[in-house]
Amino acid sequence: MELDLNILRPQERVSLQLRLLYERAGFRQYHMSRFEEYGLYRKYSRFLSSDQIITFTDLDGRLLALKPDVTLSIAKNAPVEEGGCGQFYYLENVYRPSQESHTFQEISQMGLECIGAVDDQITAQTVSLAIRSLALTGRDYVLEVSHMGFVTGLFDAVGAPEAIRSRLLTCIRDKNRHELQKCAAEVGLSRQGTDALCLLSSLSGSWEAVLQAAEPLALNAAMGTALNDLRTLCQTLEAQGETENLKLDLSLVNDMGYYNGLVLQGFLAGLPRAVLRGGRYDPLAEQFRPGTRAIGYALYLDELARMGQEEPADGERAVLNIALPKGRLGDKVYDLLAGVGYGCPENYNDTRKLVVENPAAGIRYFLVKPSDVPIYVEHGAADIGIVGKDILTESGADVYDLLDTGLGQCRMCVAGPRDFVDDPGSTLRVATKFVNIAKNYYASQGRDIDIIKLNGSIELAPILGLSDVIVDIVETGTTLRENNLEVLTEFMPISARFIANRASYQFKHREIETLLNKLTEVTEQ
Ligand code: PRP
Repeated sequence: MELDLNILRPQERVSLQLRLLYERAGFRQYHMSRFEEYGLYRKYSRFLSSDQIITFTDLDGRLLALKPDVTLSIAKNAPVEEGGCGQFYYLENVYRPSQESHTFQEISQMGLECIGAVDDQITAQTVSLAIRSLALTGRDYVLEVSHMGFVTGLFDAVGAPEAIRSRLLTCIRDKNRHELQKCAAEVGLSRQGTDALCLLSSLSGSWEAVLQAAEPLALNAAMGTALNDLRTLCQTLEAQGETENLKLDLSLVNDMGYYNGLVLQGFLAGLPRAVLRGGRYDPLAEQFRPGTRAIGYALYLDELARMGQEEPADGERAVLNIALPKGRLGDKVYDLLAGVGYGCPENYNDTRKLVVENPAAGIRYFLVKPSDVPIYVEHGAADIGIVGKDILTESGADVYDLLDTGLGQCRMCVAGPRDFVDDPGSTLRVATKFVNIAKNYYASQGRDIDIIKLNGSIELAPILGLSDVIVDIVETGTTLRENNLEVLTEFMPISARFIANRASYQFKHREIETLLNKLTEVTEQ
């Protein structure tokens, strides 16, 4: 009987092909036991993406866990000869909490780990295998590469205080220059230092172009070493004819405590999120074997099951799908876009249609509830969207935050009755639509609160005694005034942001950048 690979699901077919690829490259399969001691994860929780783990007590009384991660176990247990490099691949399920579905998810991962004496040759082999892994899906793909040493070196060079580095890193990762500038100004970074950090988001493209642009910016030895490492890697890959879909993006950054060198991220056309992630993780490997080096990556096989439509062929202009918030902000946003040539012949206010388009301008609008804009964009149903900073922060969506349009300016406030006096001895009752924002704000103040989640007319809550105060947006202040309430504290300025899906940014880069440049021109006037 002949084996027909076409009956396999994409993730099954790819996992078989990957096994073959990795076996031929000399990697050995690493099988994990079904469960792991919970103590391992508790001790090294800083290397995990979440400390929420499914645990149970085994028949002998030991506390075990359903594994949330594979790398930690391999780094601890895999056999590695003294002075050598252990090369392993795995196909395992991990269990992680999903904030979106509020439950644990079983995630099928296939990955590579090289542990021990990792040199330039092993690094290049790992990145080459990442490229070939993406290529064998048959889809258009992009492998983004960066080096943590460049960013951490830059932090040192510009004197960025430790306390602010993780906030700066988030801004860099989101290509969020407006927030980065604010953050740098708060800690008094120099103009040149701030400009250098902002430049990172534009250091993206072919390896030669990026290295050429980045070299004059190397302000210290660490930054120079990072660029040298990248050059050595890219030259090897170039000689192997493997750089066509490789992109350097120096704003690609990850957890500084985990990754200390090269970082990788892979995208496939038609999938909204990165399907491959990894990099150099010596700090974790050194926990178990001092002096050990390690590099690896994981591929998220479940994502492959969601492979949708193929992207248009090269040269054809892709249509940009925009999530437009219905209501007050939507009209302003639409006028802004129409003003730079992205209007539609049909007036969306005169129709009940939820999709309006202008094929000539290469644009399609989805009319959605403002609070849904980040969801459409994060999931790739829309490539870009314009949404208030309040809704974006509340959603926690993993998207690029590319431009502050300056539209819809207002502020997030704590408000209450005019004569309100906070009693620190009792739990404060807070009514809000913005549960996450309110929780984070009060956690930063160390104040104990009870949240009452409402969906609108929040101002009613203190009037009726449902809450002591509210956390809400204030624009003109009219609603508060007319209900005998006042602002007690203002803590977050808000305006509408231009956001983009991370994968769309790879595959519709030209279209997104064209629109972004036009918007930047008119909003910065
Ligand atoms: C928002 C907000 C306030 C009001 C503030 O409500 O929740 O109620 O606007 O604006 P102002 O300072 O100009 O008075 P929205 O109109 O979105 O309706 P909602 O009450 O249904 O949330």
